[in-house]
Amino acid sequence: MTRNTPTTITLTGAGGQIGYAALFRIAAGDMLGPDRPVRLRLLEIPQGMKSAEGAAMELADCAFPLLEGVELSDDPNVAFDGANVALLVGSRPRGPGMERGDLLAANGAIFGPQGRAIGVHAADDVRVAVVGNPANTNALIAQRNAGDVPAERFTALTRLDHNRAVGLLAAQASRPVTAIEGITIWGNHSATQYPDLSHATIDGAPAIDVVGAEWGRGPYIERVAKRGAEIIEVRDGSSVASAANAAIEHVRDWVLGTPAARDGGPAPWTSAAIHSRGEYGVPEGLISSFPVRSAGGEWQIVEGLSVDEFSRGRIDASVAELVAEREAVEELGLV
Ligand code: NAD
Ligand code: LMR
Repeated sequence: MTRNTPTTITLTGAGGQIGYAALFRIAAGDMLGPDRPVRLRLLEIPQGMKSAEGAAMELADCAFPLLEGVELSDDPNVAFDGANVALLVGSRPRGPGMERGDLLAANGAIFGPQGRAIGVHAADDVRVAVVGNPANTNALIAQRNAGDVPAERFTALTRLDHNRAVGLLAAQASRPVTAIEGITIWGNHSATQYPDLSHATIDGAPAIDVVGAEWGRGPYIERVAKRGAEIIEVRDGSSVASAANAAIEHVRDWVLGTPAARDGGPAPWTSAAIHSRGEYGVPEGLISSFPVRSAGGEWQIVEGLSVDEFSRGRIDASVAELVAEREAVEELGLV
């Protein structure tokens, strides 16, 4: 049997926690399937290189049949060479006393050059998923620096928020997660995000009827939107395995497609922050979370969903934050 051509995956921040949680699953085939060999390119800064080297040694010790090679570099021009998939995880976390502008500037210094390297060196079919925070605006910075790479190829992760929204709804309804469909995360991967139950169902029944509007449009939204902070509080560090899992699912669905419809109903959708062409009133060019399906290797926004006044207000508030972040990075000359 001939072996498929390997897919080159560049992972930044490979020496960090999410990198460590993601690498072994990617090499085992969880992301691109059991018949797709992978070649890993790991990008780190010099301080993170030892840790990335250790991960590469352990990858070798797993003898994964799908893994065709692991290369390490601290140079984006080398690490993104030939990349088909780029997972941008490494970023600058907010430090004590750091203002938002400082954070955006520090990340601009990372995602600008990485975007340029992707534009010059990555494969023609490159697909980029940004995990490092502030993820949507980091993705925008990379995209706006990447020359001719189509804007649609730059995305940011809201799959973790989506999965949290499914898990917390299932727990409230005492139903398995498989009973739930039709949740959407709108907007920014931040506390302003809007987990929307308007079209969600539990065992086919409107979710809002099952859990009640008071909870579904109140504490539920808060809980999902602040789940990242809740995890930080409990484990004294931000989410790692769930973030790696969400990144893997985001890329898997993007490349291999979201599931087809069951029982003749509409095909399920998920959430991802993707390039807006003005859908649902989200200003063009922002990388904002939408209800999405994927087919043929492309995300498609689920259109035609009704948006009531409550949802409109929530979506607009999160999108306003994205607009403000875009203005800030434009003023800083990062895009
Ligand atoms: P970490 O600190 O353990 O690892 C980050 C790694 O990135 C470090 O090894 C660091 O050396 C490396 N790095 C820094 N700058 C780099 C650069 N310019 N190029 C390459 N590597 C670089 O952090 P983590 O727990 O792995 O989290 C990484 C990021 O993911 C953080 O920004 C975190 O807030 C974010 N995050 C996002 C989500 C999401 O859903 N979008 C969820 C959880 C965490
Ligand atoms: C998360 O959602 O867990 C991360 O983005 C970390 C954070 O700061 O919330």
